[in-house]
Amino acid sequence: TGGYITLDSGYKNTGSCESAVTFLDGEKGILRYRGYTIEELAEKADFLEVAYLLIFGDLPKKEQLDKFHEDIKRNSLVDEDIHKILDAFPKAAHPMGVLSSLTSALTAFNPGSVDVTSEQDMYNSVVRILGKFPVLVAWTMRKKSGLPLDYGDKSLGYVENILKMMFKVPNEEYTQNPILVNALDKLLILHADHEQNCSTSTVRITGSSHAGLFASLSAGISALWGPLHGGANQAVLEMLEAIKEDGGDTKKYMAKAKDKNDPFRLMGFGHRVYKNFDPRARIIKKAADEVLGDLGVEDPILDIAKGLEKEALEDQYFVDRKLYPNVDFYSGIIYRAMGIPTEMFTVMFALGRLPGWIAQWREMRLRKEPIGRPRQLYIGETERSFEPISER
Ligand code: SDX
Repeated sequence: TGGYITLDSGYKNTGSCESAVTFLDGEKGILRYRGYTIEELAEKADFLEVAYLLIFGDLPKKEQLDKFHEDIKRNSLVDEDIHKILDAFPKAAHPMGVLSSLTSALTAFNPGSVDVTSEQDMYNSVVRILGKFPVLVAWTMRKKSGLPLDYGDKSLGYVENILKMMFKVPNEEYTQNPILVNALDKLLILHADHEQNCSTSTVRITGSSHAGLFASLSAGISALWGPLHGGANQAVLEMLEAIKEDGGDTKKYMAKAKDKNDPFRLMGFGHRVYKNFDPRARIIKKAADEVLGDLGVEDPILDIAKGLEKEALEDQYFVDRKLYPNVDFYSGIIYRAMGIPTEMFTVMFALGRLPGWIAQWREMRLRKEPIGRPRQLYIGETERSFEPISER
């Protein structure tokens, strides 16, 4: 059936798990982080606050959040030797492959991050990765564009500093231009966690062998890369571009999506769990209108996306299969308006999902869960004897 099988033999940890981090109801389109609705958090919180909530379970008091940010800033230096690994990649390398490798390489420069035996060890790993990961993201983007790296500015906010490192522009570009900061902050919150999705399950099961946090995150980044998962946000833009090149003929692509002999799928539509609107898609669609309006960007791709969405929501094939726009359908349009290259879209998804991955890994380790060992329904050959090659 493609899912995990929980065996009555009491076989522990067959891949399904208990978690207190995120609740979602796919039928009702509900998503809550530690009990708070995604709508309220996207409206009222900032990304670092939501990261703290996901990882430690409650919204932080001001002094807790300030200390958390200070600890993160103190751990944001990335060893210069990581540069050499970065420089060894060809320019054509996909940023997700680069990011997964650099994240795993962090273990070599932070040996203490492997076997976390105390809560303090765990906290140290958490602030190290929250400090260093945005640097790896920004460097991956700069390297892809052949641009000089930026080392950030500790006087800036967490998300402002990410933008500064990515675009290497004077601080006031962001401190005085809250549109981009607010847009990115909201997008990162909306991607921060999503229960036991493919990449989060990968982080949990990798961490269950007591591989370190950085190695577990590296595995999660690789899982997210796939076009059926986080890679969909890049695939959506490529699909919308193709439709635009094709004269905006959305009907042709709707027909392709319904043709059983055509492997094409309408990227950004459908979901393993949501059989109703993805609540994040609703918020991102509104944000896309606001950001493009604030930036004065007239992007025909947005109009094509809205036309495609309208057609799909009225199409019986899609209605019968409960295929609605998901989180990836509109996010790329905002990233593009912000000047982020298409190949970096899934990296931005990983940047948002980082606190969720950390929270789920930490929960699994604190609960001292056994090593993950999914079982199977065997559908192969029954016992048979070896035939010498002369008789085969
Ligand atoms: C994310 O799990 C998570 O939480 C993931 C995520 C997160 O935050 O971590 O929400 C992020 O990964 C969102 C999904 C991004 N992926 C895409 O947008 C890629 C396009 N979507 C599809 O590939 C698909 O919808 C999946 C992979 C997302 C879900 O696949 P399912 O639930 O296994 O659906 P299915 O393959 O069983 O399809 C059911 C039917 C099939 O038709 P029939 O065989 O019944 O006739 O729906 C059809 C499919 O062919 N179908 C689609 C379709 N998605 C499903 N047809 C056309 N276009 C699509 N996008």
